[in-house]
Amino acid sequence: MYQVIARKYRPQRFSDVVSQDHVKQTISNAIQQNRIGHGYIFSGPRGTGKTTMARILAMCLNCTDGPSSNPDPDDPVCKEIAAGSTIDVIEIDAASNRRIDDIRELRESVRYRPARDRFKIFIIDEAHQITTDAFNALLKTLEEPPEWVVFILCTTEPQAIPATIHSRCQSFQFRTVDLDQVVDRLRWICGQEGVEADDDALVAIALAGDGSIRDSESTLDQAIASCGAKLDADAVRDLLGAIPSEVSERILRALKEGDAPAMLDVVDRSFREGRHSQQFIGELCRQFRNLMVMKIAGPETKLVAAGSSERGRAEKVLADFSQEDLSRYTQILLDLYRELQHATQARFRMELGLLKLVYAGRLRPLEEVIAELGGSSAPTGGRQRFQGDSGTRPTRSSAAVRPPSATAPKTAPEPVVKQPKKDRPAPSATTTAPVDGSLKARLLEALRDAGEDFAADALDHGAVDESDSGGIVRPSPMDRTTIELCWSSIDAAAKIAGIGPIKLGEDSAERSPAVALPEAGESTAANGLPETESEAAKRALADPDVQAFQERLPGQIREIRNLREYSS
Ligand SMILES: Nc1ncnc2c1ncn2[C@@H]1O[C@H](COP(=O)(O)OP(=O)(O)O)[C@@H](O)[C@H]1O
Ligand SMILES: [Mg+2]
Repeated sequence: MYQVIARKYRPQRFSDVVSQDHVKQTISNAIQQNRIGHGYIFSGPRGTGKTTMARILAMCLNCTDGPSSNPDPDDPVCKEIAAGSTIDVIEIDAASNRRIDDIRELRESVRYRPARDRFKIFIIDEAHQITTDAFNALLKTLEEPPEWVVFILCTTEPQAIPATIHSRCQSFQFRTVDLDQVVDRLRWICGQEGVEADDDALVAIALAGDGSIRDSESTLDQAIASCGAKLDADAVRDLLGAIPSEVSERILRALKEGDAPAMLDVVDRSFREGRHSQQFIGELCRQFRNLMVMKIAGPETKLVAAGSSERGRAEKVLADFSQEDLSRYTQILLDLYRELQHATQARFRMELGLLKLVYAGRLRPLEEVIAELGGSSAPTGGRQRFQGDSGTRPTRSSAAVRPPSATAPKTAPEPVVKQPKKDRPAPSATTTAPVDGSLKARLLEALRDAGEDFAADALDHGAVDESDSGGIVRPSPMDRTTIELCWSSIDAAAKIAGIGPIKLGEDSAERSPAVALPEAGESTAANGLPETESEAAKRALADPDVQAFQERLPGQIREIRNLREYSS
């Protein structure tokens, strides 16, 4: 009869048990020193070897020439224990024998000596299921047990076992098993079964097992049933509903390049392939968390459970993302995962969430902006990141931060907020560059050259008007947010195209004089304010900190209020 892998390969001696060295060592020492306790609690996650170890301990205690810390699995007693057919090792499933009557019965049987072997051993599985009354009934027995009795309580929830029981037992915590060790075990089992499996396939199976050997073995069974004697990574990932590595790579590329359409395509494909959206995002979350940890602790870190292909991929992309980027992505994905829990409209949520990832890569850390506002002007040295620029993206970094030296003006770039018009210094080389083609066409070209197609598409729907100092971008109402998000790329492109400083103006479709903020060049007074604006607004806009704020977050000052009008 076919026996499932998890049962067929249950370890029969300590040395076969994977991991859990602290438990193996302590118990075999205790046996060698003949210091055998009467109560043990084995706790830890499912499928990590608790029942297995309880049976091995039973073998150690009851084997023919024992007690021995290294019993012979071929010993007839051990064979009976392995088969679960010996009368003196009693396995009780506490999930179905949890009531006080069951425990009374157990207490009764404790009083009688073992029928044949040295010890009468009770292995109580799922011990946390026992009711409080039943536990109380067990206390006395555990405190003063007959010399021939050993209790082994196995549980995944040690905190549910009363302290009074804990204090009468020796406790051992089992741990989840490291990915490498699970993979080694799976590889060994495949060898025994004559199954050929590539490493990535085994890693995918072990990842699905989440540190539980039994779960991993069950998945291996399923994979062999589905794929036959040859397991390849993609087929296995497909079977498990895991994200194919090629899709992970596309997502990373879309983030690096700020490619929103590619991201929407990923969502579309995942829906067409019938993937479970929350599971998909959960897996993505895991991958980004791993990237974040690898960014902090290095790609070889033991803090992440990842196979060699995931590590290899990480090594290639880590330089493209900052630590802040990665923690922001992980946070967004966690939020999305939570949202998808009860979500209707999973597709829309996924699209929104993944687009948010793309946009999040274009944001600058707030601390940096504040530091700049508090300090003097442009960031000095170190990492220079602009909105719309990851700071590490090869296509953007240097171009967005400053123009290449060949075309760079010798003078410093002109600040966005100007002197009063009459005092304005002679225009710099940048602003007097010869004009060929419309401003918009030049700006679009510069943006596309810089690989900023997304920003260019948004800009294309609006208008770019000429102003005294440079240009005024008037986005279409639909594209305002995108333009704002991409502002620093557009700003940098304007400098490269020789247009000079640009400002974000009103929407192209609805220019109304009601907008609070003036455009450069439209006014005749200080700071570009129309003469009719209040003195207080003028003063506010002339403040160097406000100017710096406007320069870095263009279009974000929506309203100016004179607080004196509110006091008194
Ligand atoms: N540490 C381990 N080493 C090797 N195999 C293990 C280990 N833990 C679990 N297994 C595999 O999983 C199966 C179930 O393990 P078990 O001991 O019943 O887990 P639990 O911790 O849930 O009691 C075993 O038959 C064995 O195949
Ligand atoms: Mg068990």
